[in-house]
Amino acid sequence: MATIGVFDSGSGGLSVLREIRKLLPESRFIYYSDNAYCPYGEKTAEFVTDRSRAVTDLLLSKGADVIVVACNTATAAAIATLRAEYKVPFVGMEPAVKPAASGTRSGVVGVLATAGTLRAPKYLNTKGQYADAVKIAERVGKGFVELVENLDLDSPHAESVVRASLQPLLDEGADTVVLGCTHYPFLLPLMQKIAPDGVRFIDPAPAVARRLVDVLDTAGLARESSSPGVELLASGTDTTLRKLFTIL
Ligand code: DGL
Repeated sequence: MATIGVFDSGSGGLSVLREIRKLLPESRFIYYSDNAYCPYGEKTAEFVTDRSRAVTDLLLSKGADVIVVACNTATAAAIATLRAEYKVPFVGMEPAVKPAASGTRSGVVGVLATAGTLRAPKYLNTKGQYADAVKIAERVGKGFVELVENLDLDSPHAESVVRASLQPLLDEGADTVVLGCTHYPFLLPLMQKIAPDGVRFIDPAPAVARRLVDVLDTAGLARESSSPGVELLASGTDTTLRKLFTIL
């Protein structure tokens, strides 16, 4: 009977938990928002690795058998270290450049992610594999994490913040945009409003959820729990976390 720990720098990882629960509705989850230290995207890899260790220790102390790093920035900075230092399995985020590269018709793939993700070797390697096949245009989703943490998902201010990072990708010809940060799917309705019809947005969360199911099965961990549900924890105030959870 597995307990699945899930963490992010804030509430963004709920977009991953949502997809996981579609596949594992009878499982038990502990979700940890490290929002006292959010955003991770502008911090050093060392800082994000230290926080990822601290959150892992806490989730393990609460009985987690497997941990989902529902944060692209923490995956890029820390997952190799976590896997080397801990015995439990970790499932991380993959920037969905591969499905984007095979789906684009214009030959231009847009990637929206944090600064930490875009400069990480993990992302640069992935990108390098597709550099010959497609053009990759990137932008940091500047201010996106703050919008989500402030629950500002559809105001005129939110629209102008989202437009400022998305429009340059569209102007470069991107017809497929990778959501490379787990906060960004909460801004998808705004992005769809801004982008012309036919632009596709790719959220890697469903693929991560499928990977988690494989990892549970391989580790011999039961999918169902006798006490299914989600425990929500945060290092800072948990108001946003609880609100976003109710509208998932
Ligand atoms: N949600 C995170 C990610 O997927 C991090 C956002 C941040 O804290 O900067 O990258």
